[in-house]
Amino acid sequence: MILDYNFNIWTFFHVPAYRQIIWYWITILTFGVFFTVMWSSYCQWPLSMLPLRHRSVFINETQMLKIPEDLGFSEYEWDQIQRALHWGEPDHQITNATMSTSPDHSTFLINNFKDSYYVGEELHATIFARDFTGMPKHYGGDFFQAKVYSDTLKASVFGEVLDHQNGTYSARFTLPWVGKALVAIRLIHSSEGVQVLKRIRDSSYIYYLGFFVGKNPQGARVEEKAICNIKWEGLVLPGEGERCEYKDARTGATWHCRKPQTLPCDALLYHNTDELMRDITTALDRVFMSRQHVDHWLKGDSRQIRVIVSNSTIGTIKSCKPGMPTPTPAGFYMNNIWTSFVCAARHFGDVNDRTQCLKDKQIYTMGDSTLRQWFEFLCGAVPTLKRMNLYSDRQVGPFMAVDVENNILLHHRSHGAPRCCPDGPIAAMHYISNQIDDLAGGPHTVIVLNVLAHFTQFPVSFYAHRVYQIRRAVVALLKRAPQTKVIIKTANTGYKDLNRSDWLAMQLDQILREVFRDVGVYILDVWQMTACHYNADDLHPAQVIVQNEIDILLSFICPN
Ligand SMILES: *[C@@H]1O[C@H](CO)[C@@H](O)[C@H](O)[C@H]1NC(C)=O
Ligand SMILES: *[C@@H]1O[C@H](CO)[C@@H](O)[C@H](O)[C@H]1NC(C)=O
Ligand SMILES: *[C@@H]1O[C@H](CO)[C@@H](O)[C@H](O)[C@H]1NC(C)=O
Ligand SMILES: *[C@@H]1O[C@H](CO)[C@@H](O)[C@H](O)[C@H]1NC(C)=O
Repeated sequence: MILDYNFNIWTFFHVPAYRQIIWYWITILTFGVFFTVMWSSYCQWPLSMLPLRHRSVFINETQMLKIPEDLGFSEYEWDQIQRALHWGEPDHQITNATMSTSPDHSTFLINNFKDSYYVGEELHATIFARDFTGMPKHYGGDFFQAKVYSDTLKASVFGEVLDHQNGTYSARFTLPWVGKALVAIRLIHSSEGVQVLKRIRDSSYIYYLGFFVGKNPQGARVEEKAICNIKWEGLVLPGEGERCEYKDARTGATWHCRKPQTLPCDALLYHNTDELMRDITTALDRVFMSRQHVDHWLKGDSRQIRVIVSNSTIGTIKSCKPGMPTPTPAGFYMNNIWTSFVCAARHFGDVNDRTQCLKDKQIYTMGDSTLRQWFEFLCGAVPTLKRMNLYSDRQVGPFMAVDVENNILLHHRSHGAPRCCPDGPIAAMHYISNQIDDLAGGPHTVIVLNVLAHFTQFPVSFYAHRVYQIRRAVVALLKRAPQTKVIIKTANTGYKDLNRSDWLAMQLDQILREVFRDVGVYILDVWQMTACHYNADDLHPAQVIVQNEIDILLSFICPN
């Protein structure tokens, strides 16, 4: 066909050959546009443009963290973690310290107070948050802790606090003992204080020192220090110049340092002579975290609760097995003895009982100094366990105790970096997932692990990644040796300062529990045990608490 000067698209369209070409291009362009849109949505569209099912229903978009690329979680799991971490916050900018929640002005009231209650009955109280001028608060996010207790009975039970996001909170208790009881509620951090903690945590303010040892060309010993840190998105390694990178092949975890002045990278011997911090707090931040604001008991309803016996029983008599959920309350103290509601935990008062339980067992504890406390307690509680002197670092370990007659091996080692405080040899700090990967497991193997307190100053995604690695190792272990006992100790309460607060620990604790939810391990809750005891919070709890923790540990190892 010859085109004339009166060219017209419709005449063009009527020629079959050209029509075919046009359809061909329309098809290509349509698919092109479609795939471009899909691809860009997958890679970089803001969260608001993702379909709803990718988003959490009640968390607003600025609060949602994207799944960091190599974290390993499915979208569903990451979403669940985000929900667990959700925390209320002020609905406007806080410019004045008087606007924050005041422990002196806030109060609580027992709902529907009765003359007497039955054992096992629930008790509810309402908390009213007020600011320093006495005005009611109208948004949530305060961090309260609640308990019912009796000093004379040395009894206490942890209460659950629900944030209504409007300045009021509900506290729910179960009354587990016969006798008298009082309600006590304390403000750990105001909503404003929690925001400070969150901001500081997410702003990469902490790093470490590496200690390098080598020789100069003349053969004399040379020691050099350099700043080190975790390599993770958003975390900085201050300073200029070359770096040394130390990547763990199995976990992919990378530690890096500034290159020391003269020594090579492989001269790094010791971790962390000190923790270093950039002070990024404002004057107002420091007020919110000051003594006047942090950790105060509220003045509230001081009416005495009378609990009488009933014919019903509370709690559970199921024997301890893996995968059991932790209820609230998880148990209670009476005369300083903890009775568990998780399962029928036993009391191992007798040396013989403990020894029989540990007979023919290899117990590996992997974690921080709070697990080292367990190691030390067990060494004392089973006198036939003889501690070896491995001449290892006081904090990092490894430590070992053996009872040859009863065939017991007790072993402890610090988890891998980050770790604050000790000058430990870096080669002795092993990642927990690697340690687990190196064990065959079996009915004689018990693994007790915890990983928490040294991670509170880092972004939650970093912690989630570490816990994910441990879960992967635990799942593989339970697959190759299903009779292995794996026990995970949760966080306990302790510090309430800017860098190491219970609120930060609690957030990580939520991640830990979420990640191990359906893995078939024993979750040993020590949060409630430390939060409701009459002793002041201590990251390294008193023996009276540790003894109760160990009873549960042994109940998990020897349920019958
Ligand atoms: C903070 O607020 C209180 C009460 O609203 C007010 O009396 C005080 O002057 C304010 N302080 C500053 C520094 O704005
Ligand atoms: C706060 O919310 C709770 C639960 O929705 C409600 O019962 C209560 O009346 C509210 N309080 C105020 C002061 O709005
Ligand atoms: C907490 O961190 C700040 C820096 O943000 C530092 O100045 C302070 O000494 C630290 N406090 C504790 C108790 O470690
Ligand atoms: C407990 O006692 C109440 C009232 O005396 C009775 O109604 C109830 O059936 C009893 N429950 C059990 C489990 O015996």
